[in-house]
Amino acid sequence: MADLKVLGICGSLRKASYNMSALRACSDLMPQGMTLQITSLADIPMYNQDVFDAGMPPSVKRLREEIAAADGLLIASPEYNFSVTAALKNAIDWASRAPNQAFQDKPVAIFSATQGPLGGPRNQYDLRRMLVQLWAHPLPRPEVFIGSANTKFDAQGKLTDETTRKFLTDLLAGFKDWILRMQPRT
Ligand SMILES: Cc1cc2nc3c(=O)[nH]c(=O)nc-3n(C[C@H](O)[C@H](O)[C@H](O)COP(=O)(O)O)c2cc1C
Repeated sequence: MADLKVLGICGSLRKASYNMSALRACSDLMPQGMTLQITSLADIPMYNQDVFDAGMPPSVKRLREEIAAADGLLIASPEYNFSVTAALKNAIDWASRAPNQAFQDKPVAIFSATQGPLGGPRNQYDLRRMLVQLWAHPLPRPEVFIGSANTKFDAQGKLTDETTRKFLTDLLAGFKDWILRMQPRT
């Protein structure tokens, strides 16, 4: 059987993003038979219906194709003002437009990292609400909230916290089972 392909999406555009660092750490924690490719939202323009009508920008086309080709999405994002970041919401808006909205039947795993102690729960619950109405399938559990993220990575962005590593490993193992469970029966 071919490896399951997971697309990593980070809701922070910051160069030294803890969420991006955690996504990169996930590359080494993937269960056997599952691989991670990480995309970038840095070049996605702000959604504008006029631009959509004139023809999708190349960066948006690329993102939609990457999502369509993935067996599952791994979304890592901080919480901004108790909700989803503008960068992530904007990318979801672009990818959700018909025809062929990109989230239909897509398994999604979510985690979040913040410098505050809670780790971004309100962002996750808003994100889940959005995804469900797009007929994506967010993995219900385990939930992973990386609070006080500034204490869990070194200056180079390497994950140094063993408990976080274990949470992410469990999330990825659960995600593999979830993707397999969500695949259409033949
Ligand atoms: C506009 C803005 C709003 C924020 N709001 C929250 C918040 O509601 N909850 C929270 O825990 N952290 C909040 N933060 C702090 C982020 O969690 C922190 O900057 C985090 O490191 C961002 O993630 P990143 O390292 O992946 O860029 C906010 C940061 C910004 C820039």
